[in-house]
Amino acid sequence: MISLRRFEPRDDASLISWLRTPEELYLFTGPRLLWPLDTAQLDGLRADESFAPFTAELDGRAVGHIELVSTGEGQARVARVLVAPELQGRGLGEQLVRAVLAEARGRGIRSLTLFVLPDNARAIALYEKLGFEHRGSSEQLHGALLMELQDP
Ligand SMILES: CC(C)(COP(=O)(O)OP(=O)(O)OC[C@H]1O[C@@H](n2cnc3c(N)ncnc32)[C@H](O)[C@@H]1OP(=O)(O)O)[C@@H](O)C(=O)NCCC(=O)NCCS
Repeated sequence: MISLRRFEPRDDASLISWLRTPEELYLFTGPRLLWPLDTAQLDGLRADESFAPFTAELDGRAVGHIELVSTGEGQARVARVLVAPELQGRGLGEQLVRAVLAEARGRGIRSLTLFVLPDNARAIALYEKLGFEHRGSSEQLHGALLMELQDP
């Protein structure tokens, strides 16, 4: 089973290696981080107090990344969801998102939102399976779809 721990500088090399092209980086984070990804940008994420970034571990090995970004009292956004490319499509993404839902519950979060690009069928199917509902799209974010889950 996947477990989450705080994302630390020792995780940067794996995360950077999982994002192999500018397109993969954009799918992961939208315009928030720029190609080529580097430690300075990841330090910036860690320095922002509204961000709670996590590394997912399986049997002591880093296998993914996910974040909870505080958006207000009792509200957060799920952001930067990633499973190591060689391990995608085996159910780890579902475990990863379920783990962050449990983390959000523990923090008293009642409303979770996320943005996902409309052509990311795999991620959309996963979020729908876990109960996220469609709430339109954002023109500012290049047509990204907004999804929401109440009471995770
Ligand atoms: C999106 C991502 C996290 C999903 O993780 P994963 O481990 O590949 O997904 P899982 O194996 O847990 O699959 C979960 C569900 O996704 C859906 N799914 C999986 N592969 C799919 C595919 N090729 N096409 C459509 N849906 C698919 C299914 O609904 C699946 O549920 P099922 O097992 O009941 O069929 C992962 O693919 C990833 O890191 N992608 C690149 C980064 C990214 O796009 N992040 C999301 C940003 S919003």
